Amino acid sequence: MRNKVTVIGAGMVGGTLAQRIVEKGYADVVLVDIIEGLPQSKSLDMLQCGPIVDSDARIIGTNTYEETANSDIVVITSGVPRKPGMSRDDLVLTNMNIVKPVTEQVVKYSPNCIIIMVTNPLDAMTQLALKVSQFPRNRVFGQSGILDSARFGTFLAQELNVSVKDVYACVLGGHGDTMVPIPRLTTVGGIPITELLSKETIDRIVDRTIKGGGEIVTLLKTGSAYYAPAAATEQMVEAILFDKKEILPCATYLDGEYGIKGTVVGVPVKLGRNGIEQIIELKLTPEEGAALKKSAEAVMELVKIMKLE
Ligand code: APR
Repeated sequence: MRNKVTVIGAGMVGGTLAQRIVEKGYADVVLVDIIEGLPQSKSLDMLQCGPIVDSDARIIGTNTYEETANSDIVVITSGVPRKPGMSRDDLVLTNMNIVKPVTEQVVKYSPNCIIIMVTNPLDAMTQLALKVSQFPRNRVFGQSGILDSARFGTFLAQELNVSVKDVYACVLGGHGDTMVPIPRLTTVGGIPITELLSKETIDRIVDRTIKGGGEIVTLLKTGSAYYAPAAATEQMVEAILFDKKEILPCATYLDGEYGIKGTVVGVPVKLGRNGIEQIIELKLTPEEGAALKKSAEAVMELVKIMKLE
C-alpha cells in the first residue's frame, strides 16, 4: 500500500507540492480546498500526468475531510499569502482563523498523522496547530528552515561559482526578519564561508537571504513564493516516509533546548518515520545564541496575539 499524504490548500504552494509528490509516485495524495472545483480540477489534471511521467500514484481533490482519513502526513498550506508591503506577521489573525478549524478536522480524521505546517506566519501557525491538535511535538512542526537555507545556499553558490551540492547553509530561528543565518557553520566543500568571503560579501548575502521571500513577493505582486517552498516541504515528506533520519532545519517546539522554552523556532532536527526523532543542539557563540533567543521572542509576541491560552 502506498503512503497517504493530504495537502490542505490547493493554491500555489499546495498545488505545486501535490504535483511533486504525485509525479515522484511514492504516495497517494488527497488535495483539499474550500473553493469548489479547485482541488478536483487540479487533481484530475495531475492524475492525467501519470502515463506521461510514469507514476501510478493516485490523487483526488475534495472540499471535505472524509477522504483524508488515516493520512500518514497532512501538510497545511491553507491561508492567505502576503502581498507587496506586507510582512508574514501581518497574516497572523487571518490565517489563525483558517488554520484552527482546519487542524481540528485534520485531527478528527487522522488522529495518528504527522502535521507539517506551511502557512505563514509559520512559527506561530505551527504553535497553533500544536495546541489545537494536542499532538506531541514530534508530530507537529513547520517548513521554513529548508527554504531559508536553500535561499542562502543558492546565493552562496552563485557568488562562489560552485555547485549548490557543495554548499551546506545553516539558518536558524523564526521564518521572518529575525531569522539567524550562521556563516560560521556554513561551509563550501567543508570550508567555512568566513574563510572564503569577505565580511561585507557575507553580510550582503545574509541580508538578501533574510529578505529572500520579500524579493519574490515584490516581483510577483499577486502572492508569494511557491516553487521552492513546495520543494522544501516535499523534502520533509520524503525524509519522513522513507525514514531517512535526515538532519534538516525545521520549525519545532523547544522545551529548554538552546535555552528556549515554550516556543516554536527553527533548529536542525532528525526527521524520520516518527517525525522529529531528535533535536540537534548546535554549540552557538553567545552572539548567535542571543540572536536565536531574540528570534524566539519575536515568535512569542506573535503567539500572544492569538491568545492561545
Ligand atoms: N480550508 C481549505 N483551504 C483553504 C481554506 C480553508 N479553510 N482557506 C483558504 N484555503 C485555500 C484557498 O482557497 C487557496 O486555494 O488555501 C489556498 C491558498 O493558496 P494561495 O492563495 O495560492 O496561497 P499560497 O501561495 O499557496 O500560500 C499558502 O503558504 O507560504 C505560505 O505565506 C503563504 O500562508 C501562505 C500559504
